[in-house]
Amino acid sequence: MDDLRDKYIDLIANAADEAALEDLRVQAIGKKGEISLQMRELGRMTPEERQVAGPKLNALKDEIASALAAKKEALGDAALDERLRHEWLDVTLPTRPRREGTIHPISQVTEEVTAIFADMGFKVAEGPQIESDWFNFDALNIPGHHPARAEMDTFYTHRSEGDDRPPHVLRTHTSPVQIRAMQDQGAPIRIIAPGRVYRADYDMTHTPMFHQVEGLAIDKDISMANLKWVLEEFVKAFFEVDDVELRFRASHFPFTEPSAEVDIRCSWEGGTLKVGQGDDWLEVLGSGMVHPKVLEAGNIDPNAWQGFAFGLGIDRIAMLKYGIPDLRAFFDSDLRWLRHYGFSALDVPTLRGGLSS
Ligand code: PHE
Repeated sequence: MDDLRDKYIDLIANAADEAALEDLRVQAIGKKGEISLQMRELGRMTPEERQVAGPKLNALKDEIASALAAKKEALGDAALDERLRHEWLDVTLPTRPRREGTIHPISQVTEEVTAIFADMGFKVAEGPQIESDWFNFDALNIPGHHPARAEMDTFYTHRSEGDDRPPHVLRTHTSPVQIRAMQDQGAPIRIIAPGRVYRADYDMTHTPMFHQVEGLAIDKDISMANLKWVLEEFVKAFFEVDDVELRFRASHFPFTEPSAEVDIRCSWEGGTLKVGQGDDWLEVLGSGMVHPKVLEAGNIDPNAWQGFAFGLGIDRIAMLKYGIPDLRAFFDSDLRWLRHYGFSALDVPTLRGGLSS
């Protein structure tokens, strides 16, 4: 019994970890452990022998059990000490500089445009980017054979075989939101609709996805004069200048009659754009008086109501205002570009608080 005792006390003292300790427990005092087997022998002894051996074996078993427990605790403490040695944290160290995210120029300019038009009573309206060809074309007086459909480089969705319905399109402009807003709200109406539009085109100034903002104002007596005033106010506020000169050029859009493209007087002296003075003209938007057929498609009576609409390229005016040369960089997600051209998330553009600063 003394040999057994010495053997196990020694093995327990040298156990490397809890798994080894558990093995020893099984070997010594488990069901078929050496000490347990000895205890079974008690039955075969004479009562006198048993009286001596019994208490001794029990004492041995207790001693081994408490040696195991003590060692287990010691191993646990050691493991904890080891973890604490590695997992320390010096809370007195200075914090790392925070990488601040920035607002993308497109988001910034969309907010600026929205703030300016909101000040003139325009609400924001929205429509889907995957649009039916009726909303994108027919309702806007662009029937099936119309050349404007081909000119727009439209992305069409796929219809499964045997499905003869016209395919949906990725909207080629924000103008379908005019129809949706008219149908939803009726007249009078005053909305802008900023959002993504799609055309299959790609170079320095074209990307297959870009952004427009649509404007629509309908009432009993809205005229081109209102359109001109609204656009002047917008351009002054947006480019943050006191005076601007707009030039209306006769143009053609199927959904407006008459139609006008609008240019802003500007100069490019020294390569930088100055809005409001100079001998150059910047083409910024398409506009006109809403065509009677478009009002009808929006369930508005063209004999009672009239109004203007315009469409403006958000990316284009963002490039102009913030001197961004290549449109494609807008969508490259290059962090260096974003940090350079991005805006602070905490400066929400407002007319009173300044748009861009
Ligand atoms: N939808 C036209 C375009 O994308 C712009 C436009 C909108 C013109 C509203 C007139 C009126 O080019």
